[in-house]
Amino acid sequence: MPPITLAFYDTKPYDRDYFGRAANGADFILHHHEFRLTAETVSTAQGADAVCVFVNDRLDRDCLTKLAALGVRLVALRCAGFNNVDRAAAAELRITIVRVPAYSPHAVAEHTVALLMALNRKIHRAYNRVREQNFSLSGLVGFDLHGKTVGIIGTGKIGRVAAQIFRGFGCRVLGYDPHPMDEWAAEHGITYTSVEALLSESDVVSLHLPLTAETHHLLNVASIALMKPGAYLVNTSRGKLVDSAAVIDALKSGHLGGVALDVYEEEEGIFFEDHSGTVLQDDELARLMTFPNVLITAHQAFLTHEALSEITRVTLDSITRFRDGHEPVAERVVA
Ligand code: NAI
Repeated sequence: MPPITLAFYDTKPYDRDYFGRAANGADFILHHHEFRLTAETVSTAQGADAVCVFVNDRLDRDCLTKLAALGVRLVALRCAGFNNVDRAAAAELRITIVRVPAYSPHAVAEHTVALLMALNRKIHRAYNRVREQNFSLSGLVGFDLHGKTVGIIGTGKIGRVAAQIFRGFGCRVLGYDPHPMDEWAAEHGITYTSVEALLSESDVVSLHLPLTAETHHLLNVASIALMKPGAYLVNTSRGKLVDSAAVIDALKSGHLGGVALDVYEEEEGIFFEDHSGTVLQDDELARLMTFPNVLITAHQAFLTHEALSEITRVTLDSITRFRDGHEPVAERVVA
């Protein structure tokens, strides 16, 4: 079999490292591009058998039409979410989309808890103070997680792991999901409830659901108003699940006690890059970064050795199987 030529977009050093080691030179020729795949950059896929993309590449109808014209029949998402792909257009153009639905739910769930704990116990502030030889504890009071109520919206693979970790802290855990997992909930002492009850009873609300037309701005002025005064919000799923302007207002009024984000509405073009020498143009992100009770990481919840190894294995296996006419290992994304 001839090697598969793979055009790789939004490449980062860890992608080169993991995919470079796993892609046997006889099986794959990797063309790495550090820019994102969009309708404007798609001509660089000329000659490729497949493209490999990440969360912020933009596979809209225009981009997919141009990909099809270049003869590319496979888009391999090296991530779980697929909200950046026009699935209807891909189906019409007979382009197969595969993703890696589950590489390590533990990576994301553990990062969720790490963010919450760092924010609640002010670790980020304490770290900076101690480096300045400021050993004062003023303003660093947190709360015990034990005994608190945590609401998990979306009890899929990641939400379930997060829920179990919170149970380990001794939290009461509420869940909301249109497809409840009753047996699992009974086994782990988790209570399903309505989204309204979850919002109004939880001290911490954590989002673990996909971004769709229905879930866009699930957390908005009205739903945030239902949350307990002083509650914490954690989002490691997708930025557009949350209306950032509503969050800023709720932080300013003190209604929200803290917000931990690994994703941001307008992260495309900002996250994953070093902008330290430039003026940040996004005023909402800039405002969010000024709050002492907001902690932001730049979409790194997936970034563990185990997750990267699995993403690489499943993606390359899927591409090979597609070339050989078999069902991909990674899940097909259908319209
Ligand atoms: P999953 O597909 O296993 O679970 C998603 C769950 O959300 C399902 O149980 C589904 O029924 C539920 N759901 C759908 N609509 C809902 C709604 N309106 N309200 C409540 N629940 C709803 O997905 P998984 O693997 O648990 O991932 C969850 C999300 O985490 C992904 O959609 C992705 O956006 C995000 N993610 C973020 C990463 C990061 O690095 N920050 C890495 C991987 C995933």
